[in-house]
Amino acid sequence: MTNLDWDDTPTTTPATDAADATGLGAIDRSGGRVSISDKAMINARADVNQLLPLKYKWAWEKYLSGCNNHWMPTEVSMQADIALWKSRDGLTEDERRMVKRNLGFFAASESLVANNIVLAIYRHLTNPECRQYLLRQAFEEAVHTHTFQYIVESLGLDEGELFNMYREVPSITDKAAWALKHTQSLDDPNFATGTPENDQAFLRDLVAFYVIFEGMWFYTGFAQILSLGRRNKMVGIAEQYQYILRDESIHLNFGIDVINQIKQENPHLWTTDFQDELRGMLRDAADLEAAYARDTMPRGQLGLNAELCAQYMHFIANRRCAQLGLEPVFAPAENPFPWMSEVMDLKKEKNFFESRVIEYQSGGSLSWE
Ligand SMILES: [Fe+2]
Ligand SMILES: [Fe+2]
Repeated sequence: MTNLDWDDTPTTTPATDAADATGLGAIDRSGGRVSISDKAMINARADVNQLLPLKYKWAWEKYLSGCNNHWMPTEVSMQADIALWKSRDGLTEDERRMVKRNLGFFAASESLVANNIVLAIYRHLTNPECRQYLLRQAFEEAVHTHTFQYIVESLGLDEGELFNMYREVPSITDKAAWALKHTQSLDDPNFATGTPENDQAFLRDLVAFYVIFEGMWFYTGFAQILSLGRRNKMVGIAEQYQYILRDESIHLNFGIDVINQIKQENPHLWTTDFQDELRGMLRDAADLEAAYARDTMPRGQLGLNAELCAQYMHFIANRRCAQLGLEPVFAPAENPFPWMSEVMDLKKEKNFFESRVIEYQSGGSLSWE
């Protein structure tokens, strides 16, 4: 018996397929090099630690776009917001309520989205170029959370009130709890993709977070703050929201591409029943958002009220269905906030980039929808 004998008789169980998929499994010394045909979105057999050769160029391009759009919240001056917030009649009580609840919703949501990426999605998405984007996105979510810390500090808001709204304000809690149940099922250490049921659970989580949380709920939140910004109120926060919106637009489009790619590679998952279930999720999400809009804007404000927000959700939900190849969930709805597309086209914002020396190369390629 030599000293090395223990090396040949491992006491742990051999790496399973699921462990290999994480990239943390034992190194296969005799394995072949990765070819593009081995790479897959989920349940890949290819080594996830080899970025090249790239298979999904759309994922790599989104990673590059994210890097080109780097920003930090502290680059935005908060002086005008501080003056307005502290002035006695700069904002109505309704506007203050809307701003605070909006900030409270986003403050915790950025964290929920980040947790889902890092603790649920990353493990099961078995493609290195997609993981590269997830790492970039995770950092951007940290920047977004930083934004809310910076706003709280600048305006002297009650941090306990703001960061606890997702627990204490029922219309916000309902949304957070709805999304959390999808990430919780993936967080189970025994969960692994590879069966139709579990692969569908993974898709459900992607829809809940990328399509609904980031792709629907965030958009009413953006509309609320950007409508104030258009009226020259809380312009610092509005500028930060424009940056966040630009990031989120890529997050959403990445999620849509991921779902459609998984669907293409695993058509057996995309059953009629499953499509109906996903459409039901979008319908429920629009209802939850309508309740949130009633709660944040009980009396409505200039150009913005709960009914218009509900209509906006119908419009957006139908757009998301089209992007996923699903039948629409609502009767055709007009976009009640056509000005949002103007705000989202950052190249039209004349002074928007003046404070930065970097020219944003990817702004024109972003689709706000
Ligand atoms: Fe975010
Ligand atoms: Fe995001």
